[in-house]
Amino acid sequence: MYVWVNDQLIRRDKAVVDMEDRGYQFGDGVYEVVRMYNGAFFMLPEHLERLQNSLKEIGISYDVKEQRVAEKLKEIMKKNDVTDGAVYMQITRGAAPRNHSFPDQPNPVFTAYPIPVKRPVEAQENGVQMTLVEDMRWLRCDIKSLNLLWNAMAKQKAKEKGCFESLFYRNENHITEGSSSNFFGVKNGVIYTHPANPYILNGITRRAVLNICQENQFPYEEKVLTLNDVKQLDEAFITSTTAEVMPITAIDDITVGNGEPGPVTRKLQKLFFERT
Ligand code: PDD
Repeated sequence: MYVWVNDQLIRRDKAVVDMEDRGYQFGDGVYEVVRMYNGAFFMLPEHLERLQNSLKEIGISYDVKEQRVAEKLKEIMKKNDVTDGAVYMQITRGAAPRNHSFPDQPNPVFTAYPIPVKRPVEAQENGVQMTLVEDMRWLRCDIKSLNLLWNAMAKQKAKEKGCFESLFYRNENHITEGSSSNFFGVKNGVIYTHPANPYILNGITRRAVLNICQENQFPYEEKVLTLNDVKQLDEAFITSTTAEVMPITAIDDITVGNGEPGPVTRKLQKLFFERT
């Protein structure tokens, strides 16, 4: 496989990361995952805009346009002969003698390579389960940063319980999002999801779904659901670049609706697939 390291397109086994890269030592960097369907990236401009914004928020000076990131992503997929899958990219503040404060002259490091992703057809058809985990992350979850320790720990807890994903709650009973996905609930035909604020990552798939709701006049509201609301939901689903629109049938011992993917979720799945 070939990968990008800054301006070099090289074989993966030739790619090295400096021991003192700040991404490695401090998680000091940001990333994106973009889906490719049939040789075309899905919502690439939106991903790149979010990347630029994450960079700005953590003060890494790197211009995504000037650095030709879009072109590089297309090139790396072509070079590796991938037409269906995803690309992973990250930008760190680069290598510097270890010191918490930023280096005076940082050299950001860009890396990108294709990752294999397949539509999880069976899970999307039958739905999956979630487990509740307290949201112990920092308060800038809107930044897609490399600091994924609690997300990783939460996903591991889900895996150990045989669940697909964990569902974060904060402030005792406020539902925020999944460990790597956004959460939606449906009650009496209205679709609810957490407002886009620093408590969640404003997912690109989340935005696509809200856009579908708008275009089709499906009633929706960006509002914080409580644990109690979740117990009363008719339907629930999560969204992400890799899971797309994934029905949730149970959350710990709470059965969602009748325990099967609901009609609103099915409609949204269908309309989402049409866009891909
Ligand atoms: N994760 N919330 C969190 C915490 C996420 O990590 C992700 C995506 C999402 C959904 O965002 P999007 O629809 O833009 O993929 C929400 C990616 C896929 C990952 O870390 O692999």
